[in-house]
Amino acid sequence: MQQTILVIGSGVAGLTYALKAAEFASVLLVTKKEDRESNTNYAQGGIAAVIAADDAPEFHIEDTEVAGAGLCRRDAVEQMVREGPSRVFELIEWGAEFSLSGSEPGPALSLGREGGHSRHRIVHAKDLTGREVERTLVAAVQRHPNITVKEHHAAVDLVVESLPTEDGTLRSTVLGATVLDTRAGAVEFIAADATVLATGGAGHAYLHTTNPSIATGDGVAMAYRAGASIANMEFIQFHPTTLYMPEARSFLISEAVRGEGGILKLQDGTPFMDAYHPMASLAPRDIVARAIDSELKRSGDDFVYLDVTHLEADFVRERFPNIYHRCLEAGLDITCSPIPIVPAAHYSCGGVCTDLEARTGLHRLYAVGEVACTGVHGANRLASNSLLEALVFADHAAHDTQALLAAEGPAPKPKAPERFLAANDPARRAAEVTPEFAHQLRLLMQTLMWSHVGIVRSDHRLKQALREVRILHTAVENLYEHSHVTLETIELRNLAQVARLIIECALRRKESRGLHFNTDYPERDDSRPASDTVLPLVSQVGLG
Ligand code: FAD
Ligand code: SIN
Repeated sequence: MQQTILVIGSGVAGLTYALKAAEFASVLLVTKKEDRESNTNYAQGGIAAVIAADDAPEFHIEDTEVAGAGLCRRDAVEQMVREGPSRVFELIEWGAEFSLSGSEPGPALSLGREGGHSRHRIVHAKDLTGREVERTLVAAVQRHPNITVKEHHAAVDLVVESLPTEDGTLRSTVLGATVLDTRAGAVEFIAADATVLATGGAGHAYLHTTNPSIATGDGVAMAYRAGASIANMEFIQFHPTTLYMPEARSFLISEAVRGEGGILKLQDGTPFMDAYHPMASLAPRDIVARAIDSELKRSGDDFVYLDVTHLEADFVRERFPNIYHRCLEAGLDITCSPIPIVPAAHYSCGGVCTDLEARTGLHRLYAVGEVACTGVHGANRLASNSLLEALVFADHAAHDTQALLAAEGPAPKPKAPERFLAANDPARRAAEVTPEFAHQLRLLMQTLMWSHVGIVRSDHRLKQALREVRILHTAVENLYEHSHVTLETIELRNLAQVARLIIECALRRKESRGLHFNTDYPERDDSRPASDTVLPLVSQVGLG
C-alpha cells in the first residue's frame, strides 16, 4: 500500500513539494481557504536566478550574504543559488509563462533588477509573478492522480509522540495532525507517514502588512507547541513601499518599481535616499525602510513618495499593469502623480529550524517555504529569494522523504488518536467565542506589535510588549481550551504565540543586525561569531 504524506499549505512550497512527492506516495494537501489563497499568489517582483550571461552564482551568493548581514548559512545559500535556475526552468516546463524580451537569436527571459541585487536576475511575469506561479502549480496538482486537495481545512496541531529508535533512545516523531474542517466545524485527526509544514508567513502579527489574511504564523506556532526549534523570529522584514491610501492600504508597490528607476522623495519632492546609501533608492529594503521611518519621524508626515512620473507612461503601464490598475482604482494615475507609500510587515526570515533537506528537529516532519528557517536569509532576505528558496528546498524535502519512507516504512499509528479530538466535545462546541471578540483581541495585539516591535526597537518597549503579549497569550490559550474551535480562534492562538516568539527573540539579540534595529545596541556586534536566536533554548537543531 502507498504511504501517505500530509502537506499543510498550498503556496509555492506546499504545491511544489506535493507534485514531487506524488511520484512515490499518496499526498493529501490541506489548505485553510481556497487553494490559490497564499502569499505566493500576491508575489509581484519575481524569482531571483542566475541566468544572465554577465551573472554568476558567486555574485548572487555575495548579494544574498551582504543582505543577510553576516548571518546567512553559506551551504544553504549555495544550494539555493546553484540549484535555483533548474527549478525555474522546471516551472517553465510545468507551464509557467514568464515575461520575455529581445528577438535575436530568439526571445529570452526578461530579467528585472531589485534592491540589493548587483545584476539583472529577476525572472518575472510582469508584476503578477506569484499569480502565474500559483496558477501553474495548482493546475499541475489538480491534474495529478496521486494528490487530494482539501480546501477549507485548517491544521490545528501536530500529533507528536516520543517513540524508541533502533538503539532504544526516544525520539519525538510526528504522526500527522489535527485538522478543522472550517465549513463543517469539526476537527479530525489525519494520520501521515510524513508531514510537511508549508504554511507561509506571519505578517498578521502586525497591524499593517502586505500579506493576505492566511499569514497568521500557524506553522511556526504548531511546530513550537510540538517541541521543534524556532530561530531568528526577530528578523521581520518590513517592505518599504506599500500604498498609503485608505482605498488600498498596504497594497504592495513592488521593489521592481525602484529597480526600473522609481525614486523615493519627501512630500516636497526632494529625493532623500542619497543620504542613506550609495545605491540610493535601490538600496536593500531594510535600509530603505529605516530611512523612510526616520524621515517620517523627523517630518511628522504620514507618508513619502515613490515617483515614476519621469518614466515613459507606456512602459509603466506595460511593465506594472497590476500596480497601475490598482492605483488607478484607488484614484491615482501613477504615470502622472507620485505614489504615497509607507513600510508594512512583509516577510518572516525566521521560522522552524531546518537542515539542507528541510528536515526539522522532529522526526517525519519537514518545513518548507516561509515557515522554515533554512539559514538562507540570515538577518535580512534579499528581494525575490523567497520563491526561489521555496522551490529549491521543496525539491530537497521531497527527495529526502522518499529516502526516509523507503528506509523506515510507514509510521506507527498514534496511541488513542481520539484524545486529539477533545475539541469536538459538545460542551466545548457550545461555548462560542464570537468572531468580533476574537477580532478585537487580534487588533489589540497587532497594534502593540506595530507600535512596540516595529522597524526601530528598544529594550524598554520590547519588555513592555512582552509583558502585555504574555497576558494576552495566556488569556487566548484559556479561551481556546474552553471554546468551540474555529478558524478565528486557531489563528488568534497562533498569532499570540508567534508575537511572543518574535519579542522573545528580539530581546535576546543584544545588537543591531539586518532587520533588527535596537536603539540600545545600535551597532552590529562583530566581537564574536554571529549566531542565530534559537527557541526553546535547550536545543540547537538544524542550524549549522
Ligand atoms: P504561502 O504562499 O503563504 O502559502 C501558505 C499556505 O498555507 C496557504 O495556502 C495558506 O492558506 C496555508 N495555510 C496557512 N496556515 C494553514 C493551516 N493552519 N492549515 C492549512 N493551511 C494553512 N517573494 C519573492 O521571492 N518574490 C516576490 O516577488 C515576492 N513578492 C511578494 C509580494 C507580496 C505582496 C507578498 C505578501 C510576498 C511576496 N514575496 C515575494 C514573499 C513570497 O511570496 C512568500 O514568502 C512565499 O510565497 C511563501 O510561500 P509559501 O508556500 O511558503 O507560503
Ligand atoms: C516585491 O516585488 O517588492 C517583493 C519582492 C520580494 O518580497 O521578494
